Amino acid sequence: MDVTVFGSGYVGLVTGVCLAEVGNNVLCIDIDPKKIDLLNSGGVPIHEPGLEELIKSNREAGRMHFSTDAEAGVKHGLFQFIAVGTPPDEDGSADLQYVLAVARTIGQHMDSYRILVDKSTVPVGTADKVAAAVRETQAARGVSVEFDVVSNPEFLKEGAAIDDFMRPDRIIVGTDNPRTAELLRALYAPFNRNRDRLMTMDVRSAEFTKYAANAMLATKISFMNELSNIAEAVGADIERVRIGIGSDPRIGYQFIYPGCGYGGSCFPKDVRALEQTARGLGYEPQLLHAVEAVNFRQKALLFNKISHYFNRELAGRVIAIWGLAFKPNTDDMREASSRVLMELLWAAGAKVQAFDPVAMDETQRIYGDRPDLQLVDDAMSALDGADALVIVTEWSQFRSPNFAAIKNALKAPVLFDGRNILDGHLAAAAGLTYISIGRVPRLPD
Ligand SMILES: NC(=O)c1ccc[n+]([C@@H]2O[C@H](COP(=O)([O-])OP(=O)(O)OC[C@H]3O[C@@H](n4cnc5c(N)ncnc54)[C@H](O)[C@@H]3O)[C@@H](O)[C@H]2O)c1
Repeated sequence: MDVTVFGSGYVGLVTGVCLAEVGNNVLCIDIDPKKIDLLNSGGVPIHEPGLEELIKSNREAGRMHFSTDAEAGVKHGLFQFIAVGTPPDEDGSADLQYVLAVARTIGQHMDSYRILVDKSTVPVGTADKVAAAVRETQAARGVSVEFDVVSNPEFLKEGAAIDDFMRPDRIIVGTDNPRTAELLRALYAPFNRNRDRLMTMDVRSAEFTKYAANAMLATKISFMNELSNIAEAVGADIERVRIGIGSDPRIGYQFIYPGCGYGGSCFPKDVRALEQTARGLGYEPQLLHAVEAVNFRQKALLFNKISHYFNRELAGRVIAIWGLAFKPNTDDMREASSRVLMELLWAAGAKVQAFDPVAMDETQRIYGDRPDLQLVDDAMSALDGADALVIVTEWSQFRSPNFAAIKNALKAPVLFDGRNILDGHLAAAAGLTYISIGRVPRLPD
């Protein structure tokens, strides 16, 4: 089938390449010419495991093309995927300008039936706005061409996006039109062979499902972070508590890790957007508000621990950071906890020496050259002349470090583990003070 994808970011590229991989002809459109030039020269603008290889093979097979030519995009695909950003507006609600711009582009150029498939995360009611935008643009042209708007929210996780798309937990198709549902069922059939995971529902419920899922996941994280702070205060070990509660199948072990807060392009903005939707309808979403408030506080926790350890004297200190991306296996720095930590450290007069396996270019792009940020080539180099080490992102390569070497390299032998990935006994045995989340600090043996 012929498929067009508007937006060649995390979601658009993964959607496009996975649909190409199963045999469709995919044209990916973006308004950013630099991105399209890079893709057309064999590069990939983001780090996502497996993505580059898959794009390469599908380009070579002639099933995947990239262009800034929106008109060609509209002419190409029966399916017009919308995978553009929906960043937060000033009040936290989702900014729909990019989604509606694509809708108008499609209305402007379509001359036969098209299915607009909304993959961007958008508030309930957006499909109606997209349809209205297409109709208005068509009316201005004096034409009326049939189309449908489907809500098909994306649930991929950055870092495991290809696998998530290829083997989805669910495929949600929101449409009131049974014929459109069947066309999408056919498009998704290769990803739906093992058992039927495609769920059709009304458009509004489909739009809402995405926010509900992200709000639930963010709630789990903030809930555990709240408990971790209480555990620390009462002298309990949150990691033992985690294992204790996870054994109850009604709770489960998944996604209940305490840490230094959630970031990324989805949870923060989606929780805020849902909050705004509720408020706009006169409902005060107390729990959602608390989820974000707890996360906001949690992102400052590592700084507070570091500041407390050094008696609030951080000016001139050098803090080594391992991990900058908002989570492992991505270079995405949007709302990353590392950013809050670095900015607080800089405001307190400290310097940062940081290493991340893939997110250093992105960090450089965001912060530019500044004297209080040094990005280094490997994890151990971050420790040169540093007072303390902080782990912010749980990359696997940080999970089994040489504690003795860390102890020898640091001026004040203290290690802050913002993701509870290390064994505090081993750190303490090597002479390090080990400070983590929701556990009493381990002092050197
Ligand atoms: N990143 C994720 O993990 C993830 C997961 C599920 C859902 N989502 C949702 O998917 C949507 C896209 O997210 P993303 O992370 O891929 O964003 P992104 O910022 O990585 O990519 C968006 C792309 O759209 C392009 N764009 C903007 N306007 C355009 C237009 N008129 N025509 C063509 N291209 C245009 C931008 O240049 C950019 O390259 C958002 O709504 C997001 O909430 C993201």
